[in-house]
Amino acid sequence: MHRRDVRPGPDGPATGVVDIVAVDGKDRADIDRLYGEMYRLLGHPGPPAGWIDEVVAQALRGDRGLFIAKAACVALGFIDFKLVRYHAATGSTFCRIFDVFVKPEARQRGIGRRLWLQALHTAKDRGADSVELNVLPANEGAQAFWQRQGFRLHTLGFRRDLEAHHA
Ligand SMILES: CC(C)(COP(=O)(O)OP(=O)(O)OC[C@H]1O[C@@H](n2cnc3c(N)ncnc32)[C@H](O)[C@@H]1OP(=O)(O)O)[C@@H](O)C(=O)NCCC(=O)NCCS
Repeated sequence: MHRRDVRPGPDGPATGVVDIVAVDGKDRADIDRLYGEMYRLLGHPGPPAGWIDEVVAQALRGDRGLFIAKAACVALGFIDFKLVRYHAATGSTFCRIFDVFVKPEARQRGIGRRLWLQALHTAKDRGADSVELNVLPANEGAQAFWQRQGFRLHTLGFRRDLEAHHA
């Protein structure tokens, strides 16, 4: 577990001491609330029923990284990532970050950075040699955040809904 005093934000009170901890079974309700808030803010309907159960179950089995940021037991954010072995011959492994979220009132205080650094250290310890993630084109804040962490544009992703089109 990592503890650190987090600097005060531009508005609102200081967050105080923030712990970054691996999720355990008793964090289930906090994880639910954080995912719910993230999807609400993104204007997304959210994941199908049972999906968060699966994410937490994978984390508890050690098949997924799921860390939560807490100040005085209040959950402020989380990061969700996985290690992917993509080349059987070389054993190369990369870390894919699926979601990182910090509650709006706790942003700009270094919590997002600490969450991602936790993912970095965990991934390195488990043998990863790179980290990848996707950001929606309209999410300029997240793009600025990741560029600030040393990430650079690597691929452009294309997508097509299958039901809506007939080739
Ligand atoms: C992206 C997000 C996780 C950043 O969390 P945060 O706790 O505010 O980030 P930090 O305070 O650790 O910021 C680290 C650095 O990134 C910069 N940064 C963070 N958000 C930024 C933004 N919206 N625009 C520009 N720079 C930003 C900070 O200024 C800071 O820079 P510094 O190192 O020069 O001080 C948070 O804004 C969030 O939850 N957004 C909504 C969910 C989302 O979009 N997630 C990413 C999907 S891939």
